[in-house]
Amino acid sequence: MKKINIKNFKKTLSKFATGITVICVIKDEKIFGKTINSFSSLSLDPPLILFSISNKSSNFRTYFGSKFLSINILSNKQKNLSNHFSKNNPSSSKVDFIKGKNNISLINKCLANLECKLIDKIKKGDHTIFICKVLNVKYNDNLKPLYYYNSKYY
Ligand SMILES: Cc1cc2nc3c(=O)[nH]c(=O)nc-3n(C[C@H](O)[C@H](O)[C@H](O)COP(=O)(O)O)c2cc1C
Repeated sequence: MKKINIKNFKKTLSKFATGITVICVIKDEKIFGKTINSFSSLSLDPPLILFSISNKSSNFRTYFGSKFLSINILSNKQKNLSNHFSKNNPSSSKVDFIKGKNNISLINKCLANLECKLIDKIKKGDHTIFICKVLNVKYNDNLKPLYYYNSKYY
């Protein structure tokens, strides 16, 4: 075993394969999106999920102050969206969105979409855990997931 530092911690975590989501919120009629792989289920009854965002992340305050948000689980045909929404302050103008309820926009043609209400935020270390109640869901059984492992897409 090696004593932990940021480099070997990140490398170790990269061995955990995940799917990829884009979290979207709307503020002042503008859509904000961010690529997130810290998404996880939390509770079945009530239906709760969580994810974490770096406290230094661009537009952090916009996500922190949101009431509703969408979680868009990307398919293997949407790697471009993962790259796009991991940029600093990405534009949403050319992205194919569909309108959800509660002033939420959903990315079209995803593996799955979740409409959520943000119910709690817990600051821990340099990230904040966002806890959400899931209100509505949509999924497509005919698409395959985009995976992220060892800092690469599969
Ligand atoms: C595959 C992948 C997963 C990511 N997951 C997270 C995450 O869970 N939490 C987070 O805060 N940022 C995550 N990021 C980083 C953000 O998507 C984005 O790159 C970062 O917020 C942009 O930098 P900026 O905040 O300085 O603009 C991830 C990026 C990639 C490529």
